[in-house]
Amino acid sequence: MKNKTKTVGILTSGGDCPGLNAAIRGIAKAAMQQGTKVVGIQDGFRGLVENRIMNLEDKDVSGILTHGGTFLGSSRDKPHKMKMGGVQMDMTEVAVSNARKNHLDCLICLGGNGTQKNAMRLHEAGLDVITLPKTIDNDVAETDITFGFDSAMAIGTEAIDRLHTTASSHHRAIVCEIMGHKAGWLALGAGIAGGADVILLPEIPYNMNYVVDHLLARRHHNKRFSIIAVAEGAISKEEAKSGKKSDDLEDEIVEGLIQEPTASRVAREIQQAAGIEVRYTSLGHVQRGGSPTATDRLLCTRMGTKAGELMVEGRYNVMVGLKGDTCEAVPLEEVAGKTKRVPLDHRWLKTAVLVDTCLGDKLKF
Ligand code: F6P
Repeated sequence: MKNKTKTVGILTSGGDCPGLNAAIRGIAKAAMQQGTKVVGIQDGFRGLVENRIMNLEDKDVSGILTHGGTFLGSSRDKPHKMKMGGVQMDMTEVAVSNARKNHLDCLICLGGNGTQKNAMRLHEAGLDVITLPKTIDNDVAETDITFGFDSAMAIGTEAIDRLHTTASSHHRAIVCEIMGHKAGWLALGAGIAGGADVILLPEIPYNMNYVVDHLLARRHHNKRFSIIAVAEGAISKEEAKSGKKSDDLEDEIVEGLIQEPTASRVAREIQQAAGIEVRYTSLGHVQRGGSPTATDRLLCTRMGTKAGELMVEGRYNVMVGLKGDTCEAVPLEEVAGKTKRVPLDHRWLKTAVLVDTCLGDKLKF
């Protein structure tokens, strides 16, 4: 088949995660094998607008499979709303024109939900794009899993393991905050894998009385420690009623506001209501650092090389999603603007309840 893509550009956008370099390597190696010229765009969409673009050679993508972060750099900048010298501007046309100046037949964007939307906008403005679903939050639609999730879940699980030994020595309750943006996948996955006694998610506003009853029942049964895994976007029933949504988190992240950790708030509420000694810890960006797991390395290499194949075929304006054990091309308009949260009938929730984990409120299956 004739290769439809002479030159491809790759950018990484949004919060970084383990596996980005592995995915870049997969795309670049597959592309170079077909004779496609590969360029790297620095710091996400900002680099495209500022024309910070570099040629990549085979040696540049060699030896990076295991490296955390992204050697291209990343940012949360959006082309249609970008601060330029302190003023917010629509830089879409500049982004498109720079892509054309650099003869890009296709722009491959690696990112989460924000990136999917931004890539869709660039497609609407005339560019051909392919996206990969990257985020530790696992909240991108139309893929069973996003890359970065498995690595972050492993870090969260190890943290919970470590908290278990100190909580049990001191007969304490320890609240552990886990990232995940507006979705509870990471807290739920790490919470189940680490054996947390309580898991609080944005999808299930918690009833503090229900949580406290669970913690006191554990004490009553001579289990003198408890681990509470809290998603950063978790909210109480009262907050949900008063209109606070986990969506509020969006504004806090975009504005870079430093808020009281959710874990600190939940720890205080438990201490006051249950009268037991509580500590808290917030894992924060530790979850986004370091080397990807073997599962993520494999997934990134599969998704990256799949993007390489699509590019050769000229199948643009799609996201590479994992469906079952197959990497598939999903039309971008089916992904952009959606968020995949934990459905209330999800099998992981049932699993948690079956091992007597409190999910913050009574659930019916
Ligand atoms: O989307 C990934 C993520 O790590 C979320 O879990 C978290 O809410 C957010 O990014 C933090 O963003 P930043 O690194 O910009 O503070």
